[in-house]
Amino acid sequence: MSRITIALSKGRIFTETAPLLEAAGIRATEDPERSRKLVLATSRPEVDLVVVRASDVPTYVRYGAADLGIAGLDVLREQGSDGLYQPLDLGIARCRMMVAVREDFDYLRAVSRGGRLRVATKYLNTAREHFAAKGVHVDLIKLYGSMELAPLVGLADAIVDLVSTGNTLRANHLTEVEEIMKVSARLVVNQASLKLKRALIEPLLSAIGGASAREAGHAAA
Ligand code: ATP
Ligand code: PRP
Repeated sequence: MSRITIALSKGRIFTETAPLLEAAGIRATEDPERSRKLVLATSRPEVDLVVVRASDVPTYVRYGAADLGIAGLDVLREQGSDGLYQPLDLGIARCRMMVAVREDFDYLRAVSRGGRLRVATKYLNTAREHFAAKGVHVDLIKLYGSMELAPLVGLADAIVDLVSTGNTLRANHLTEVEEIMKVSARLVVNQASLKLKRALIEPLLSAIGGASAREAGHAAA
């Protein structure tokens, strides 16, 4: 019998995906937040979950080490989605990718003066494309997290980061100045798996897609 492996990260992606997987009869037999196991069996004997870093999901799926994966559009855009079939917007883990600066920093003036802006982010490719399209000269500084600190300590003039409630920006006296894109989690599929395991994958896609559409309907109601 052929098997299906789904790559996803723990934390918000796992928590918000669990009800959608459940609609396809897939329930992890262990809680990834507690277990140290990286391969989790599920209530469906032919389906396993592998628990990886959010930014590693596309890599596992691209190489076929996982057949399916759940990744944010931020990660997919930053890394490119070559070789990945992207059939479903799951409508979960919603946020926005923003440019943000200190409340006392005059961004428009800095941009209109045409000088170089120092921008800290973990999304180097996305930031580079965004500022190039606007004709703004930037020096990019790669960070791996806590981007909000950079403008506070003089490391950068601006950051490119994800914003949801805005609480983290507010707590650090930062403000949004530009939206780069709206972000939500996507289901991605290895293209070869889709062909070779179509009989297993297609029903999964329709169950998960149906559940996410119902959740979206409830959220809108
Ligand atoms: P990594 O472990 O690879 O550094 P991460 O720490 O960004 O990744 P998470 O914080 O679990 O991992 O985020 C996973 C995904 O959830 C992100 O790629 C993004 O799509 C989405 N996300 C991140 N922050 C938020 C947020 N505040 N609200 C809603 N969704 C978010
Ligand atoms: C994300 C993001 C922001 C924060 C925004 O961080 O990098 O820091 O959420 O959310 P808010 O607008 O609701 O405050 P996360 O919570 O994932 O922590 P991380 O730095 O460990 O990725």
